[in-house]
Amino acid sequence: MAEKFFLTTPIYYVNDEPHLGHAYTTVIADILTRFHRLFGDRVFFLTGTDEHGQKVAEAAVKAGRSPQDQCDIMVQRFQAVWEKLDISHDDFIRTTEERHTKYVQDVLQKLWDDNEIYEAEYEGWYCVPEERFWTEKDLIEGNCPSCGREVSRLSEKNYFFRMGKYQDWLIGHLKQNPRFILPETRRNEILGFLAKPLGDLCISRPKERLAWGIPIPFAPDFVTYVWFDALLNYVTAPESRGGGWWPATVHLIGKDILTTHSVYWPTMLKAAGLELPETILSHGWWLVEDAKMSKSLGNVVKPLALADKYGVDAFRFFLAREMSLGLDATFSETALVNRYNSELANDLGNLFSRLIKLLHQFNQGRIPAEGLPDKADPPTAVWDRVRSLINEYRLNAALDEIMTYVRSLNKAVEDAAPWKAGKTDPEGTNRFLRSALEDLAAAACMLWPVMPGKMTELLAALNLKPCASPLSSLKRSLSAGHLLPEKASLFPRVKYEPQSEAPKTPAPSAPEIPLVTIDDFRRIQLRVARIVGAQAVPGADKLLKLEIDLGTEKRTLVAGIAKHYKPEDLPGKSIVIVANLQPAKIRGVESKGMLLAAEDDGKLILITPESEAHPGSKIG
Ligand code: MSP
Repeated sequence: MAEKFFLTTPIYYVNDEPHLGHAYTTVIADILTRFHRLFGDRVFFLTGTDEHGQKVAEAAVKAGRSPQDQCDIMVQRFQAVWEKLDISHDDFIRTTEERHTKYVQDVLQKLWDDNEIYEAEYEGWYCVPEERFWTEKDLIEGNCPSCGREVSRLSEKNYFFRMGKYQDWLIGHLKQNPRFILPETRRNEILGFLAKPLGDLCISRPKERLAWGIPIPFAPDFVTYVWFDALLNYVTAPESRGGGWWPATVHLIGKDILTTHSVYWPTMLKAAGLELPETILSHGWWLVEDAKMSKSLGNVVKPLALADKYGVDAFRFFLAREMSLGLDATFSETALVNRYNSELANDLGNLFSRLIKLLHQFNQGRIPAEGLPDKADPPTAVWDRVRSLINEYRLNAALDEIMTYVRSLNKAVEDAAPWKAGKTDPEGTNRFLRSALEDLAAAACMLWPVMPGKMTELLAALNLKPCASPLSSLKRSLSAGHLLPEKASLFPRVKYEPQSEAPKTPAPSAPEIPLVTIDDFRRIQLRVARIVGAQAVPGADKLLKLEIDLGTEKRTLVAGIAKHYKPEDLPGKSIVIVANLQPAKIRGVESKGMLLAAEDDGKLILITPESEAHPGSKIG
């Protein structure tokens, strides 16, 4: 019976553009599943998008759209890139789909009914402008690590999953199942993490702070924490297809999301009474000039541009070949061009065009009927090794095997020198050439998971369908007398054009300021406001509640300026505010807008108009 192979990729956040990192995971996933399809396994390949949470909600406000519209637009970018990169997923799940939201709510209800979730106060450091909590250790010099502004101590009711009680069980599971987290270094990392006490997990967000999430069925004022929602996609999708697929064979992820997958996820599954995945396979990080890719460094590598320039298959080949699954690798276009020219143009492409040329020279371009009499079947031994390496997720080693085999075929042609031998022994030469074509076809089948487009093209030139027949019957499948194309140029050599290299990383001293477009800026409404009243917020020593006049309306705004201004000094002052910031409830006070202040050596100085300006005046 065919074995089941169910592989997942992370579901990607829709607020980002797909970049090299996303493309890597998805291409590797596609290659692994295609290998398993070749092995004759029953394959299910799942990918998708993670659509809830603060970032999407913010991006939607910025774009002036509803969060759902924002997702519907952004998801298409991922789908278009996957189509271009020949990704053959069986399902694409979006966390805003009804099948998913319903499943998440069912699991939440079950965990609540089983007393796996409880209600408690959550206390942490809250950044007003960023509208989010930080823990003590996140803070940088006591301030928000993201925007650098002051934070205030807040406490709020929330719901918690009893994750901590599964700590010993999880350690036991990791110890008994060495393949649960691969590679081993990552498993050790998680064992190290679990050596410290494991707390419970806050799985709710009050709707007044964040409405864009899945409502918690037993707590109508709350939505689910985005990770609790996202991880469950791995079960929603197979269950919605009639079941029979869960547990996953492998969750392929980047090392950045190892803890959520190896700690949160198994404990959630255990509590819900669901089986655990067999393996969590964590790959390394693509760096650009040894730095993390980031928009602010301007070094984000765009997969579509590379696929357009060098071809989808060469790009896929490079991704799989260049990075040792598990370790970090540095991306450079020069390395891509070098790989392309040495292995694709020289080794593989050259072998193909050489054989075709020789057959046109000695057999009118037709495939000879007989191969070498003493030649064994095409390389089943190589294929067996490739298969066991793929089963161990050692993709690089598997590709090494195949490329070494391709080089050995080239060498065999060199050694036989058919261009000379054909003149004296045409029959023997034709036998040799047929056998060489059989071997090349076998190599093309083995490389089909990596380069499905080009290998289909190569096999079609030999009148073969990609991998329709197992390697052992290829010998018979090659049709005698088939006319080969005049010329084959599968991988024409490419030149390295330095101007297209990813932009240089700025010197470390350069400020990392992400640029915004004028349209981005215009979406932010800055206005003059007059403070008409100010008072302290009980229990929050950094906050002041301000009553402000905006000309046409009066508003309340909460600002973290209590350490710098006394409430009695503020009325009458003109200030500048962001007028169209999403309202937020802070310490039970609805705050509408954010005031602007300069920070000078730890001191906050309010920004005010240089001369009298009417409340409500636009700034821009
Ligand atoms: N939405 C979460 C995942 C939820 S899964 C239940 C998320 N999304 S993400 O859009 O940020 O994608 C993260 C994944 O993208 C990484 O785990 C990795 O697979 C891939 N990569 C992103 N940047 C990368 C590199 N620079 N290098 C390699 N892959 C990285 O996290």
